[in-house]
Amino acid sequence: MASVKILAIESSCDETSASVCVDGRILSNIIASQAVHEQYGGVVPELASRAHMQHIVPVVDAAMQEAGIAMQDLSALAFTQAPGLIGSLLVGAQFAKSMALSLDIPLIAVHHMQAHVLANLIAQPAPAFPFLCLTVSGGHTQIVLARSPLELEVLGETIDDAAGEAFDKTAKLLGLPYPGGPLVDRYAKEGDPKKYSFAEPQVPGLSFSFSGLKTSVLYFLQKQEPGFAAANRNDLCASVQYAIVSVLMKKLKKAVQETGIKRVCLAGGVSANSGLRQALEASGAKLGWETHIPAFEYCTDNAGMIAITAYHKYQAGQFAGLDTGPSARASW
Ligand code: KG4
Ligand code: ZN
Repeated sequence: MASVKILAIESSCDETSASVCVDGRILSNIIASQAVHEQYGGVVPELASRAHMQHIVPVVDAAMQEAGIAMQDLSALAFTQAPGLIGSLLVGAQFAKSMALSLDIPLIAVHHMQAHVLANLIAQPAPAFPFLCLTVSGGHTQIVLARSPLELEVLGETIDDAAGEAFDKTAKLLGLPYPGGPLVDRYAKEGDPKKYSFAEPQVPGLSFSFSGLKTSVLYFLQKQEPGFAAANRNDLCASVQYAIVSVLMKKLKKAVQETGIKRVCLAGGVSANSGLRQALEASGAKLGWETHIPAFEYCTDNAGMIAITAYHKYQAGQFAGLDTGPSARASW
């Protein structure tokens, strides 16, 4: 059988990325990040769309070149359909559709959250099915049950802030620049995680809530003298990280108990967090779980995860019409 060569494009937020995948193997994964948002303390949608337009051609060229594949050899074009910023999604979708039309090859629309989970299939040995995946990013927090590559069920998700948002918003309260998550991780390494205790919100089932934690940090800081946050930065970061990681781990343990599935994966940008990684490894060793965490470049937003998902959709014959538009929200 001829090999399946897919070019995938990811442009849902503030990373422009292109990846080439041949028979399920990722040959390139080029990611252009947008520094323009740093000065605003968050992603500015209009600036993101414009930056995607500037980056998309060079990023696609670099991905094709690194993979050593010619355009005429491609079997399909894939793009992130949802969820995301609509103007950002549009750039990737229109680009993929135009290329698919001009090359007369099929188009594959990919759900970004499904792709985060399937990033776990990139490294070998990949987890066997079924597995549980804790997807933790700046926009989402979900526990997903994966029965097969294309049979994914969300068992629980956040009812307010995402885990990454909880890191970034509390980091802002501590006077750290955006995105604060990686900085909290760095300073936490030097701090005492038990120094301060912040409210861990109680929500039923496998749902998550982080807005109370952020408020608890805010009220705590309001009661302190000026300069307290800077002077106690490391202990505050360690305590905040401890609280977020405990919420995540408690729900993950509950999901393992309820499903009886002991194969557990992480996904999304927050899986770069060293406290979370250590907690997963420790629980894995103690409770007999088999654990998987994708390489860092496949945890944050990237087209490699879109490509691997598209490969499974290609095999299942799940193609999209040229009239398929991006969608800010869509079901799996
Ligand atoms: O998956 P991602 O790259 O983008 C979204 O789809 O949202 O996740 C970005 C989020 C940000 O909130 C960022 O602060 C957080 O992941 N993050 C971290 C770490 N690295 C990235 N949070 C805590 N510790 C880290 N080491
Ligand atoms: Zn993402």
